[in-house]
Amino acid sequence: PSAPNGCPVSHAAAAFDPFSDGYQQDPPDYVRWAREQEPVFYSPLLGYWVVTRYEDIKAIFRDNLTFSPSIALEKITPTGPEANAVLASYGFALNRTLVNEDEPAHMPRRRALMEPFTPEHLQHHEPLVRRLAREYVDRFIDDGRADLVDQMLWEVPLTVALHFLGVPEEDMDTLRQYSIAHTVNTWGRPKPEEQVAVAHAVGNFWQYAGQVLDKMRANPDAPGWMQYGIRMQKALPEVVTDSYLHSMMMAGIVAAHETTANATANAMKLLLQHPSAWREICEDPGLIPNAVEECLRHNGSVAAWRRLATQDVTIGGVAIPAGSKLLIVTSSANHDERHFADADLFDIRRDNASDHLTFGYGSHQCMGKNLARMEMQVFLEEFTRRLPHMGLAEQAFSYVPNTSFRGPEHLWVEWDPAANPERRDP
Ligand code: HEM
Repeated sequence: PSAPNGCPVSHAAAAFDPFSDGYQQDPPDYVRWAREQEPVFYSPLLGYWVVTRYEDIKAIFRDNLTFSPSIALEKITPTGPEANAVLASYGFALNRTLVNEDEPAHMPRRRALMEPFTPEHLQHHEPLVRRLAREYVDRFIDDGRADLVDQMLWEVPLTVALHFLGVPEEDMDTLRQYSIAHTVNTWGRPKPEEQVAVAHAVGNFWQYAGQVLDKMRANPDAPGWMQYGIRMQKALPEVVTDSYLHSMMMAGIVAAHETTANATANAMKLLLQHPSAWREICEDPGLIPNAVEECLRHNGSVAAWRRLATQDVTIGGVAIPAGSKLLIVTSSANHDERHFADADLFDIRRDNASDHLTFGYGSHQCMGKNLARMEMQVFLEEFTRRLPHMGLAEQAFSYVPNTSFRGPEHLWVEWDPAANPERRDP
């Protein structure tokens, strides 16, 4: 087989399958061969060019005109006519938000909506995060065993995301189900027989998001990023459009929730797999902020992102025609020896850990990065203080097959409740 630029496709490139367990378990290891031998290759299975090295990926992020983000939320597996008809029956019209918006529309909108992400505003959310983290740990601290994902890490970031957006708490359970369907719909490969069920869930999510938005419009002075957007729309109707608000009401939940839940689960797994690092942060919580960066680098929750080449370009010496789709494997960039010394080593004191590309880079870089960091730090502070003696239980880790959002579906930990610091030293 040959790639769209006429070059032959290597065996390894032909075999590349991001829906396989190999990629799910460890994306940077799965594409190690590419990082070393064929850093930019064409995947016939995906119909995407795959980019694996740090400098190439950073250069792509830096130039959002040549490399448009417009396909960031496009379905990676096109659905069949039946599922499309289901989506249409719900009036599904998810459109550009920020992450997939081109210039010149993107920057004015990003600027208009930035204030709620500034440190002064974010600090108001920390007490809620701390209170929720404590309440959830209280529920299982005497059990000696917990699935941190099911019993805490899924729900707490969801609640924080809903508060941040300004969504009423009573709608939480419904949204929890819908947001999983959205991930599979966008980044996964649902089988034809699953596609219709996924489409119904996504269609319901879309309509539900519209209803929640209507509630918010009725009370636009309430706190929340969405209400802030509703207020900005009055002054800048061309910048903050109705389509933006409805789409962000749906996409924003996933952006703020799953990324952070998965990032914390990945971080806890990694730390408990490295007991000496875990012991160090238990003894010195001052190490937590850099440990969080190193966890995001080594095992982040976004494994890859997407761009569309708007003109003929050369990436890493490979000629790529205009119109090509790119899968930029940020998790591979984060393990590139050319940028990170001894890149596979997990080192919570690494001085350039925060150079990771898990939040993207440049004009679209994650707006919620400091909210996510704050949440992860609070969770680690609470775990290290209250359950320093916990360890990973024997288990096999499973992931929802998709190219981009990664985190274990379950994370079982265990400890001896009789040795809880709170019992020894109440
Ligand atoms: C954009 C990752 C948490 C809101 C992005 C992008 C990535 C990302 C990869 C695209 C960057 C690019 O194209 O350069 C993550 C990760 C998170 C996280 C790994 C958690 C660990 C959050 C949270 C929010 C959020 C908590 C809060 C609402 C956004 C927004 C954008 C974005 C609004 C679009 C920015 C733009 O295009 O201008 N994020 N995110 N994210 N993220 Fe996050």
